[in-house]
Amino acid sequence: MKRTARSVALRVLLDSENGRRVSLATRFESSDFGSLRDRDRRLATELVYGVLRNRSLLDHQLDALLERPRAGLDPEVLQILRAGLFQLNYLKIPERAAVHESVRLCREFRKASAAPLVNAVLRRFLRDRPPLPDPGGTRSLSVRYSHPEWLVRRYLSRYGPEGTRTILERNNRPPPLHLWVNPFRTTREKLCRRLDREGVPFRLHPRLPHCVRVKSRSFVRHPLYRRGHCFLMSPASQEVAQLGDLSRCRVLGDFCAAPGGKSFILQARKRSGARLISCDLSLSRLRQMRARAGLYRTPQLRAVQADLVHPPFRRLFDFILLDVPCTGTATLRANPDIRWRLAEEDVQRMSRIQRSLLRSSFRMLRPGGQLVYATCATEPEENLGVVEHLLNREPEAELLRRPGGDFPKRESFFAACLVRKRGRTLRPPAAAGSGGRKTPAP
Ligand SMILES: C[S@@+](CC[C@H](N)C(=O)[O-])C[C@H]1O[C@@H](n2cnc3c(N)ncnc32)[C@H](O)[C@@H]1O
Repeated sequence: MKRTARSVALRVLLDSENGRRVSLATRFESSDFGSLRDRDRRLATELVYGVLRNRSLLDHQLDALLERPRAGLDPEVLQILRAGLFQLNYLKIPERAAVHESVRLCREFRKASAAPLVNAVLRRFLRDRPPLPDPGGTRSLSVRYSHPEWLVRRYLSRYGPEGTRTILERNNRPPPLHLWVNPFRTTREKLCRRLDREGVPFRLHPRLPHCVRVKSRSFVRHPLYRRGHCFLMSPASQEVAQLGDLSRCRVLGDFCAAPGGKSFILQARKRSGARLISCDLSLSRLRQMRARAGLYRTPQLRAVQADLVHPPFRRLFDFILLDVPCTGTATLRANPDIRWRLAEEDVQRMSRIQRSLLRSSFRMLRPGGQLVYATCATEPEENLGVVEHLLNREPEAELLRRPGGDFPKRESFFAACLVRKRGRTLRPPAAAGSGGRKTPAP
């Protein structure tokens, strides 16, 4: 069967509905995207991201146009209708073509019996244009900006209507592409000279020494990217891996390290002779990390599989970066699919895991050592709440750097720098030794 932009996009949307992550760097390099011409690849990308970013709004319109409940539609038909409405609402595609192609997709996906319904709904949309809900209030913002209501409610209570709109609007704009230029393969100057020669527009980050913004959505297929001269990483993530003074650190830990972006930055930053140990629970993510280390030619990666809830090492680290698993609510701009996967209960669930990870990681810090606790979440229970939980329980923990308060004005990750004060002993850990797998100190 011939792959078209619309059929490829539909498959990604169906996979996403079944829990598969949508990722610009991995999925869009896959064979089905790879077989499309540039123009079609752009359309497929626009359709996938557009439908995910506007899902509640499209569903609101569908509910007004359908004569029966949306919940009764086959998944394929629902996605065809969302994608069709997205094209009619937002893309400069002739209306006739958008309707015709949607009907054709019904046949391609063996839903020929739904073709008249799809045709009728899309034509009704062109005639009636259902109105948006009245402005103001949680429900209206949730529909207009397509975010889950529980998250909008939380933002409204903390940032008010204006701050909330700033966040929601920003989350729905395509993110700029930023690279970390890999010093083990090249330099920023060399890479930029090549971009210049090829006419790829770029801009240097004013503060981050390895960060370059490229204005080319298809850069993940560029030979420099494929050969590991750089990788995609937001400035906020790069900034987190730049925190802490490493000049005197001999043993460094990157905890919750896979697939490794921040480990590679730490490797470039650490002083020569210092050891970096990167730990993660997930074997498959560690495997990805090893493959990336090979591609990036980073020196001697020590990647260890360990459940960090049960301290696998003694008090050995001068510096730890703990980049915990989290809800990812600060990354909805790059990952619009996440918002449809999360439930409010996930915030508390993640917070409990993060508290255990922070407490046990702190115990692996030697006196005088520093720990950077980082999340890519916006919710206080995952951020300051976790740090305060530690400060209330560990008398040796001290907060060195209060996390910046730029959100919601500026996109950022959360990062808090903690230090383990010298000279006292810790209380015995509540859960220590209770079945935790102990690995000898390396
Ligand atoms: C936010 S991601 C880390 C991203 C990584 N720091 C980077 O820059 O590429 C969180 C990681 O925590 C790991 N993780 C979750 N629970 C863990 C545990 N109990 N012990 C160790 N790692 C864990 C996950 O496998 C996941 O790779």
